[in-house]
Amino acid sequence: MAVNLRGRNFLTLKDFTPDEIHYLLNLAHDLKRKKRLGIKGKSLEGKNIVLLFEKTSTRTRCAFEVGAMDEGAGVTFLSNSQFGKKESVEDTAIVLGRMFDGIEFRGFKQETVEDLAKYSGVPVWNGLTDLYHPTQVLADVMTIQEYVHKPLNQAKLVYVGDARNNMGNSLMIGSAKLGMDFTAVAPKALWPSEDLVNEMRELGQNTGCHIEITDDLDGVKGADAIYTDVWVSMGEEDKFEERIALMKDYQVNMDLLKRTGNPDVIFLHCLPSFHDRNTSIGEDIYQKFGLEAMEVTDEVFRSKHSRVFDEAENRLHTIKAVMVATIGN
Ligand code: CP
Ligand code: NVA
Repeated sequence: MAVNLRGRNFLTLKDFTPDEIHYLLNLAHDLKRKKRLGIKGKSLEGKNIVLLFEKTSTRTRCAFEVGAMDEGAGVTFLSNSQFGKKESVEDTAIVLGRMFDGIEFRGFKQETVEDLAKYSGVPVWNGLTDLYHPTQVLADVMTIQEYVHKPLNQAKLVYVGDARNNMGNSLMIGSAKLGMDFTAVAPKALWPSEDLVNEMRELGQNTGCHIEITDDLDGVKGADAIYTDVWVSMGEEDKFEERIALMKDYQVNMDLLKRTGNPDVIFLHCLPSFHDRNTSIGEDIYQKFGLEAMEVTDEVFRSKHSRVFDEAENRLHTIKAVMVATIGN
């Protein structure tokens, strides 16, 4: 059956079938080729979108803005609006729905993005909540398709890090949907919820995805891609000390990449990353805890294995695909 995503929200990959996710990925590859050739699209001509941010962003905001403008849409960025202070989610959603064709939201609660979708009457796209980061996973899978030279259902993704954060959850969901084997390597205190693991294991039985959750670093064996994320996510800034104590043995370094046994293993990270001291927080952490880097060493980050900047670029093509598919002319 032909895939048609017009009018749909993009709140979590749970809501999408494997065919629908492949449709978005194929569209992203196509839009990337066109961008390389300098071909501008008109799929969003006459549309206006709004980007509502409670949390900070570089990639997600830029990908929505450039993606929308490449296809002819107008863009409004809102970060200091009445939202949440003087105006409820419901009232804001109704107002934005009267003016815009699509709404992007980045913030804390998944419930907020769901309520925006419920009350606005226009497609709403999740640009990250505490629970999920679905547009990121599209870019990650696109990068795996480009640099891991085997079909997704024969590939193994290993996530080493805070496995109960938005990235750990979303990568497990994406893997289960697409039949890619998924292992989370993390201390027990940071394992994903049993409910989500069970739900995804059940789904994986249909798609061929095997899910393993372990605190053993040998879980990386046979990985085609090693993925990590920050140890402390946005909104948890008071937890550095606790997380460093929990995560210090789970840093992605060259020894860990060697442990995969795969000389061609690729390294992925959603970014931003604490791989050196060239940020105010990175320097502060060095002064307090003596760490030159946190979740990944500078050596791995800059190595031939690292595809992090290809992955960052793919945010543009995949987010553009989501907008074109859901509100395109
Ligand atoms: N990966 C990601 O979402 O980056 P930003 O926080 O810069 O948007
Ligand atoms: N887990 C990170 C992802 C950032 C893109 C955070 O929520 O801060």
